[in-house]
Amino acid sequence: MNGAIDAPAFPMARERGCPFDPPPQLRRSERISRVRIWDGSEPWLITEYDDVRALLGDPRVSADATRAGYPISTVALRAAVQRNRPFMSMDDPEHAEYRRLLTGYFSVKRLERMRPRIQQTADRLLDEMLAQPIRAADLISAFALPLPSLVICELLGVPYAERDRFHRLAGTSISTVTSAEEAGMAAEELLGLIRAVVIERQAKPADDILSHLTQSGRLSVDEITGIGKILLMAGHETSANMISLGTALLLANPEQAAALRDDDDPSVVASAVEELLRFLTVVHHGRRRLAVADIEIGGVRIEAGEGLILAIETANRDPRAFPGDPDVLDIRRNARSHLAFAFGPHQCLGQTLARMELQVAYGTLFRRVPSLALATPVHELPFKHDMRIYGLHALPVTW
Ligand code: HEM
Repeated sequence: MNGAIDAPAFPMARERGCPFDPPPQLRRSERISRVRIWDGSEPWLITEYDDVRALLGDPRVSADATRAGYPISTVALRAAVQRNRPFMSMDDPEHAEYRRLLTGYFSVKRLERMRPRIQQTADRLLDEMLAQPIRAADLISAFALPLPSLVICELLGVPYAERDRFHRLAGTSISTVTSAEEAGMAAEELLGLIRAVVIERQAKPADDILSHLTQSGRLSVDEITGIGKILLMAGHETSANMISLGTALLLANPEQAAALRDDDDPSVVASAVEELLRFLTVVHHGRRRLAVADIEIGGVRIEAGEGLILAIETANRDPRAFPGDPDVLDIRRNARSHLAFAFGPHQCLGQTLARMELQVAYGTLFRRVPSLALATPVHELPFKHDMRIYGLHALPVTW
């Protein structure tokens, strides 16, 4: 690559800035510049909203992480993708075929039927938390993690009794500090767990996604297992981190928490969810892509075969896209055009489900526990600097 000698290392550290903001050095980066990643390569970093959105939808850009030059996040992920390429790492038309098989399960109409069940689950988890003799808990283990885990297990048909195993295995897979061997073993164990469920569902189908896929007769057990792994991982880590990090941010901004709690209008919770998704952008470290044709951006020519890091986290703080200080959390802002679910062919398949989970989670939590407070100062919270999905390792709260 013909990059600058002093290209800064990527990802950049958040530690010295506000833990809810993108890293200070990333925020100072130019519209387009070179960065250096773990393998010594120097992909292009793109930071502004219009460019990031356009490139995410550009057919001259590939999501195939097995191609030479693709700026993959970690050595462990490279090994995993080479062993077993998931559909999120495929391009159309191959990728679209997989998506077509799944979109029906994540439609607004189908998921709205699940809302009462998600509400019931949230209420039950809070009943259990509030029934404890001590008015203190780790909100992640009591609420933020079990809620989306229970929902995705039920949708897929994976027994919830396996949760401790898949939480541990998913955590190892998305860590940025794990070795390729450890991640490989975790991925194999997770695939084994899901394969066993798929085989069982094949013999004894029920009303869940894995059963339906086995009955469709269009996919092999291995293909269904691969899909199950993506949905299980994507379906709980991201939502769980949004619930805990969003709650911490609201508790650190009491006037915003009060606006959410005191307004009966359900559109306020819906708008708060969009603003929290925009503000926090938990899928951080940029979306990774590869240019497959020459592309010009801001007078810079990106050549075919060069890697791209599309920073949705800075795009979501771009004042041209979100006028009126985008660094201020404002739950009444219209933030719906954010890129927290990315954009284009790979835009999050589970976004309707995620929105519903977050609306139920924040709405119920702040309404039912009005005295909720952080038990630790914000700067002492254990933020996930070591994970590809940002969030908190624990969230001690009192009420
Ligand atoms: C707040 C929660 C969530 C956030 C912030 C989030 C974010 C994202 C982002 C940014 C992408 C695009 C990745 C890329 O372009 O490289 C994505 C893709 C995806 N998400 Fe989500 N997600 C969330 C929840 C979920 C849930 C609940 C599911 C459901 C099972 C899910 C399933 C998927 C799948 C399957 C893809 C791959 C889509 C494809 O490549 O076609 N996500 N998500």
